[in-house]
Amino acid sequence: MRAAVVLATVASVHAQQLYISTTGYTDRPQCTQPPSTPDYRFEAFSFTQNETVRHAIPVPTPTTTHTYGPGYDKAYEKLGTTLATTTWGSWLPGETSISATDTEDQYGQAAWSSLWEEASLVNYTSVGLYTTTVSPTPVPSSELVLPPRDYFGPTDCYDFPEDFLFGVAASAAQIEGAIALEGRGPTLMEKLIQDDRPKNYVTNENYYLYKQDLRRLAAIGVKYYSFSIPWSRILPFTVPGSPVNEEAIKHYDDLINYALDLGMVPVVTMLHFDSPLYFLRDTNIAATPDIGYNNGGYWHPEFVDAFVNYGKILFTHFADRVPVWTTFNEPLLYAFNFTGIDNVVKAHAELYHYYHDVLGGTGKIGFKLNDNFGVPKNPENKTDVDAANRFNEMQLGGFANPLCLGEQYPKSLLDTLPGAEPLSKKELKYVGNTTDFFGIDPYTATVITVPADGISSCAKQNLTTNALYPYCVTQELTNVYGWDIGYRSESYVYITPTYLRSYLSYLWNTWRKPVLIGEFGFPVYDESTRELADQLFDSPRSAYYLSYLSEMLKAIWEDGVHVLGAFAWSFMDNWEFGDYASQFGVQVVNRTTQERVFKKSFFDLVDFVGARNGLGYRH
Ligand SMILES: *[C@@H]1O[C@H](CO)[C@@H](O)[C@H](O)[C@H]1NC(C)=O
Ligand SMILES: *[C@@H]1O[C@H](CO)[C@@H](O)[C@H](O)[C@H]1NC(C)=O
Ligand SMILES: *[C@@H]1O[C@H](CO)[C@@H](O)[C@H](O)[C@H]1NC(C)=O
Ligand SMILES: *[C@@H]1O[C@H](CO)[C@@H](O)[C@H](O)[C@H]1NC(C)=O
Ligand SMILES: *[C@@H]1O[C@H](CO)[C@@H](O)[C@H](O)[C@H]1NC(C)=O
Ligand SMILES: *[C@@H]1O[C@H](CO)[C@@H](O)[C@H](O)[C@H]1NC(C)=O
Ligand SMILES: *[C@@H]1O[C@H](CO)[C@@H](O)[C@H](O)[C@H]1NC(C)=O
Repeated sequence: MRAAVVLATVASVHAQQLYISTTGYTDRPQCTQPPSTPDYRFEAFSFTQNETVRHAIPVPTPTTTHTYGPGYDKAYEKLGTTLATTTWGSWLPGETSISATDTEDQYGQAAWSSLWEEASLVNYTSVGLYTTTVSPTPVPSSELVLPPRDYFGPTDCYDFPEDFLFGVAASAAQIEGAIALEGRGPTLMEKLIQDDRPKNYVTNENYYLYKQDLRRLAAIGVKYYSFSIPWSRILPFTVPGSPVNEEAIKHYDDLINYALDLGMVPVVTMLHFDSPLYFLRDTNIAATPDIGYNNGGYWHPEFVDAFVNYGKILFTHFADRVPVWTTFNEPLLYAFNFTGIDNVVKAHAELYHYYHDVLGGTGKIGFKLNDNFGVPKNPENKTDVDAANRFNEMQLGGFANPLCLGEQYPKSLLDTLPGAEPLSKKELKYVGNTTDFFGIDPYTATVITVPADGISSCAKQNLTTNALYPYCVTQELTNVYGWDIGYRSESYVYITPTYLRSYLSYLWNTWRKPVLIGEFGFPVYDESTRELADQLFDSPRSAYYLSYLSEMLKAIWEDGVHVLGAFAWSFMDNWEFGDYASQFGVQVVNRTTQERVFKKSFFDLVDFVGARNGLGYRH
């Protein structure tokens, strides 16, 4: 570890990727003097090449129970308000009118049905195969045989530190289905896709297949399971004072307990893009944002209080058994404008204080941000370096400056976003240092330069008039010599492991919190059109995971960066917001039968981490 660190005030990219001009072939320092002449000879030939068969090692059965906060009764006392609980049933495809008669009850069956009637879903024709929890069956040992290794792979010698959390991740809207069943209320996700692309109505039916899904993860050896809970399942009417959905509480209680029984550990994200539709009822969902991609309703005047109320209810029920909490997933993408960012900062800080100061939670609570690491095209050109700093700072600093450091919003945000206001001294004190980790989804890197007409004229415009707004930098995917920055995927992800290493240094040294990699993953190009056997042999995904993990280890041991853990995205192919072709999964999902099959990269990933003592249990 580094001894003393000088406190940096502003994020700055070190000139880590200088182009050092050199000649000659690749060094092979590991090779001693080879023999000078081969020894040619004849021998009897036979098939003596032995194949080794290895099976995945399951997560060990738990022997101890940990608690990270008070159980339900004590937590309920601390909450200081009463919670009404009720059940509503389901809104099935084809249903068009409300038959319930309790119309005078603002939170009754009729009111709940009218949420769905109002949501008026396009082509809601199926709930999938299941309408009740499927009993899990053991994973046959024939499915757990390790695949042939790739010939090339990392050769590092580091182990993962004892506190490292390795796991897999997914989000509710992308895997659960059952969108209007068992009392769930409508969310933005059901309205996101208005053309004929696939909707989130069925996806992977994980809402009913969660036991089988968890069992598969335990069988292959994964300990940490990062998932998200939809706000609208817990509180179909969204707002404080509205009743809690008993079926949802039972569902997640059972999911958490089942994971723990298998020897796994649950990690919960409170909001992963699936905002209750309540916040967008009278709003143009497709309105052009000032920042981010979608209108998640975070700017809504009732958002902060409602989110804090929802978060406290989750803590009340689950904080005893969940050691790691993420309030917001990639909030910038759905922030919509400055008010959205400001509300996220305030809501997060309030929940942090409640979790540690009121509830006495002993686990960790943080956020998780998006930013494909911006690196200067020419690291020796100050203009490029400044542009890269602006690009990263605008995406991360709005949350991380106040929440990690107690420092003001970045000047770049305040100067660019309409209506942006600095936090007061008092606000800064309250929100400062209210995160236990810096969550990041560092999928890939992007090369940054300055547009021909500079940054400042663009920063005065908007997304309608200038496509580069609000960052106002040019993003490229090739280096100065015209090469792609890495091997390309189906989407925006390129394999850029060495940039990951410098990114981890940048985050740790700038915001000074342990870095938790909340997602990382690779959608192999054209994978979905290939035959099953070929989809399963996903060597490019293995190259992505193993190289990223290897560089993570170098960041930990050589650069002194505290990396708290890493969750692979995703544990199965899923609904990628209107698309099933961008396959980020380490399991294939058959869209007709909902059957899951392990891909090669999943075995490679677990083997890499396990061989380096990083699975969170010592064999
Ligand atoms: C294959 O295994 C057999 C039995 O263990 C052993 O005698 C033989 O030397 C092995 N062959 C090779 C090429 O490793
Ligand atoms: C609805 O389904 C029909 C029939 O499959 C299809 O032609 C149409 O494009 C779909 N519309 C939307 C918006 O999904
Ligand atoms: C953000 O958008 C909402 C909804 O359009 C609006 O009411 C609010 O004033 C906006 N905030 C800023 C700072 O522009
Ligand atoms: C931030 O809070 C943590 C946990 O309470 C504490 O250990 C740390 O010293 C604080 N850091 C600063 C800079 O205040
Ligand atoms: C730095 O790069 C910018 C364009 O990104 C260019 O206009 C400028 O001339 C470069 N400066 C130097 C010193 O090379
Ligand atoms: C964007 O800027 C143009 C030109 O100043 C203005 O006419 C337009 O109303 C702005 N659009 C938005 C969404 O603010
Ligand atoms: C899904 O499973 C069915 C039944 O086993 C099979 O016929 C079909 O080919 C599978 N689909 C894909 C895409 O593998």
